[in-house]
Order: sequence, then structure tokens, then C-alpha cells
Amino acid sequence: MNKTLVATIILAVVVGVFHYVLFPIFTPKGFSWVLNQYVYFLILVLSIVAYNLILKLKPAMAWRGGVVWLTGLYFYKFILYPPVPWTLLITYMMLWSIGTFLYISQDEDTFREFRAPLVKVVTGEYKFARIIVFTLMPLLVGFATYQSLIPKFAEPVELRTVHPAPPATTKVHGKTYGLEDLQNPYRVDEQDNYKDSFPFLDADKQEYMKFVTEGGTVFFQNCHYCHGDQLNGLGMFSHVFNPTPANFVDPGTIAMLRESFLFWRVSKGGPGLPNESTPWSSAMPPWEEHLTTEQIWKVILFEYWYTGWHPRTFDDESSVGE
Ligand code: HEC
Repeated sequence: MNKTLVATIILAVVVGVFHYVLFPIFTPKGFSWVLNQYVYFLILVLSIVAYNLILKLKPAMAWRGGVVWLTGLYFYKFILYPPVPWTLLITYMMLWSIGTFLYISQDEDTFREFRAPLVKVVTGEYKFARIIVFTLMPLLVGFATYQSLIPKFAEPVELRTVHPAPPATTKVHGKTYGLEDLQNPYRVDEQDNYKDSFPFLDADKQEYMKFVTEGGTVFFQNCHYCHGDQLNGLGMFSHVFNPTPANFVDPGTIAMLRESFLFWRVSKGGPGLPNESTPWSSAMPPWEEHLTTEQIWKVILFEYWYTGWHPRTFDDESSVGE
């Protein structure tokens, strides 16, 4: 009994030193043959065997069985790399337990020796241990039952409508606009025809390019912090927001929206969104407070020009219905 106690104390010290001092040294970032966790583990096991032999401790069989079992657990939890999922850990530990049991029950003597302390606890020879075991058992079972029965309320999944139905009208700078037939004034030509073309650097379309450039100035003064200087939603502030700023290059944003929708979104920002779009979580500012109506239209023009997308229109049959 005494020797087992000594063995336990030494084990605690050795494992403590190994785990907290040597383990970090043996697990460097890069892989190396000498300094790695498997070598470390081997040395740990060898030293446990060594000090038991050298000090002739011969701890009790139950102790040895327990240490062998825990060594396996330690290996699978801390040493084995990459870490295994818990289902696999349980499978491994079951096999390891069988192995440990074979070691314990290799012949009748060892098994009797292993059983002895357990029997003594149950029959009351180890009185104190018996009291502890028999009070803790029901408590543990009770606690486990309680834990499994207690109702758990998971956080509800947040379903966010990214592109909600826009309102019929919106009021920007004192003027009410019907979103149904609202068009970007900088895209409509003298004959009031809606320009669906993209003149890019067409020399004849200097006026169009002038508006695009002005829109670009607005963008790089106000929007690129969030929407990114390549309009891909990766601006320097974008990483702190959830939902993240829209990626205009993505076919799922402005490419499938009408300019009137953008006009509403840019003017009213996050606060202008209906409830199903969780207005409280959107960082998009209501730009009507900082930009003129003209600037809003121009920045929209710029976003389409830069990304090369066509705004969705109702004019041709390919885009009927929204
Ligand atoms: C503080 C960061 C921030 C700034 C600055 C910002 N936005 Fe946004 N914007 C967002 C976020 C976040 C979203 C996505 C959430 C949402 O839909 O409200 C968004 C969404 C949008 C959308 C909707 C896209 C879609 O697919 O529905 C448009 C259009 C838009 N922004 C345009 C602009 C314009 C134009 C500017 C500059 C005048 C600008 N944003 C500046 C954060 C920002």
C-alpha cells in the first residue's frame, strides 16, 4: 500500500514535469525526427517503467492496470496527430480497454491481485473508500441523468432575407420616387431611352464617362472602406461586419438587381431594411444623409460600369418579373 502511494506521488510529479515542461519543447512547429511528440511519449513511458524498476516499487496490480489504461488515453488525446474525432477516440479506447484487461487477466494470480482492492472496497474492508464510492456513485448517476433531461434551448437560426421586396415608393431628400418605373437619370439618353449599353471608354460617350468618374470619386470617398477597392466586398473594415458588405462582383448582388432597388438600398442603408432583413445587424449606412440624390445615382452608375454587370431591367422579355 505504501509503495503504491510512493509510486502515485512520483507518477504525478513525473507526468506533471513531462506534460508542462517537456511536452512543449518536444512539439516544435516544424517536424523533426528527434524532437517530436512520439519520441516524447516513448521517453515518458520508459521513464515511468524505469523509476518503478529502479526503486523496486512494484505497485499494486490495480494501479498498474489504471496507469496502462490512462497512458492509452493520454496517447490518443494529446500525442496522436492529427487529433482524432471523439467517436474514433471511443473506438480506440474500447480496444485499448480490452488490451488492458487482457494484461490484467493474463493469469489467475494477477487477476486476483487486481480484483483485491475492488473487493475490499465493496465488502467494507476499506471503510473510508467504501463510503466515498457509495455516496459519489448515486450522485454522479443523478447528475448525469439531470444533465441529459434538462431542456436546452438552442439559439434560433437567423433567417435573413438578403434582397427583400422593396417598398412601392421611397422618399429621398423630400422627393417621393415610385420605384416601379424609376430609372437612373444618368443612363437615360436625350430621347428618354433607357441606355442598356456599356460604352466603357467609347470616345463618343464622354458625358457618360464623366458621370462614371464622378461616381467613382464618390465610391472611393465613401464606400471602398467596406465594399473594397475592387468592389469585391473585402474593404478594410469588412471583416468586422456580419452580414459582410455586399460583393458587387458576385453575380448574386447588383447583377440581379434593378437600379431603382439600389437607389433605395443606398439611400436608406441598413436602417431602411424591413424586419425580415434584420436591419439591426446591417452596417450599411443610409447614404441620403451624406450624399446628394445625384451622387447616389452616379455611384450606382459607377458600380455597374466597374463590374461590367447590366442592371436588371423590365424593358426586355428576358427579365420579366422580379
Ligand atoms: C460601414 C460599411 C459600409 C459602407 C461604408 C458602405 N456599405 Fe454598402 N453595405 C454594407 C453592408 C454590411 C451591406 C450588406 C448588408 C445589407 O444588405 O444591408 C451593404 C450592402 C450594400 C448594397 C446592397 C447590395 C445588395 O446585394 O443588396 C448596396 C447597393 C451598397 N451596400 C452600396 C453602397 C454604396 C454605394 C456605398 C457608398 C456610398 C456603401 N454601400 C458604403 C456596408 C457598407
